[in-house]
Amino acid sequence: MSLDETVMKPHDRLSAHLAGDMERVNVLIRERMASEHAPRIPEVTAHLVEAGGKRLRPLLTLAAARMCGYDGPYHVHLAATVEFIHTATLLHDDVVDESKQRRGRPTANLLWDNKSSVLVGDYLFSRSFQLMVETGSLRVLDILANASATIAEGEVLQLTAAQDLRTDEDIYLKVVRGKTAALFSAATEVGGVIAGAPEDQVRALFTYGDALGIAFQIVDDLLDYGGATETIGKNVGDDFRERKLTLPVIKAVAKASDEERAFWRRVIEKGDQREGDLEHAMELLARHGAMEGARADALRWSAHAKDALSALPDHPLRTMLSDLADFVVARVS
Ligand code: IPE
Ligand code: IPE
Ligand code: MG
Ligand code: MG
Repeated sequence: MSLDETVMKPHDRLSAHLAGDMERVNVLIRERMASEHAPRIPEVTAHLVEAGGKRLRPLLTLAAARMCGYDGPYHVHLAATVEFIHTATLLHDDVVDESKQRRGRPTANLLWDNKSSVLVGDYLFSRSFQLMVETGSLRVLDILANASATIAEGEVLQLTAAQDLRTDEDIYLKVVRGKTAALFSAATEVGGVIAGAPEDQVRALFTYGDALGIAFQIVDDLLDYGGATETIGKNVGDDFRERKLTLPVIKAVAKASDEERAFWRRVIEKGDQREGDLEHAMELLARHGAMEGARADALRWSAHAKDALSALPDHPLRTMLSDLADFVVARVS
């Protein structure tokens, strides 16, 4: 490995190593996000796609396939499929969350409207199905169709659980496994499946993606209370304003005094938020070590992800995936 490569972030190392494949994925994405019949579609998709995004999920698919020795063409279709599913869920998620910023830009629901976001999201979902059918593998269809349903379930479960102070860490885990980890694990699993990898390796890829996705979402939730808008491309404090019970808050609520519990009930359950409440919430998180606690959980999931990789062939990509698991959590060190 060159010196340059050792100082690069694992995510950039993956991108560099898979640059040829990723270029084909980007070409395919651009080709398939177009529409001859409804100009609003390319407007909205171009807005999101040109803003970039980390392309984490397609990189996972490509890495898994290559690591397992694949040299056919369809990992590219699968990687594009996964990014389309991701982009569709982001369009829908920003409507549901009434978010105003995504990938450092105003959201599509803000620039256009909710209707456009919902319908273009549906379009991208359908395009993703067309792409995965082209692989001819019923098994990858099964995995990705399941993942799509699981993501929606996670988002719907969150709808009822997020503003309820009785929501505990088990329910949080269920939500996160659904809305986020399901696509990570499907992304890695289909890479192994398309490569015809042995079952124990396919299982290991699933476990890696699942644990990485959980760590990733915990960190995303931590950053919402501790990140900078410029680095996360979204607004800090959105989860609080949306009255969303995420892991740090669940941990603080579990240790709350009566007075603190009354505060959480007012701001989260009743949604009666006033000036200074976000700051007070952050004080309570600090008082109960809730941020450190959530970070420790993220580290455990990251370690679990890395452990799973031992079942996979020794390969430079395996090292990058292992480093990626460290890096995801290092965002909140
Ligand atoms: C955002 O995912 C949605 C979550 C699961 C938190 P990413 O952070 O991977 O989004 P982009 O694609 O890089 O914008
Ligand atoms: C994103 O969940 C997960 C999906 C897109 C399904 P969040 O609502 O927590 O993520 P951000 O903060 O909007 O990216
Ligand atoms: Mg959101
Ligand atoms: Mg959401």
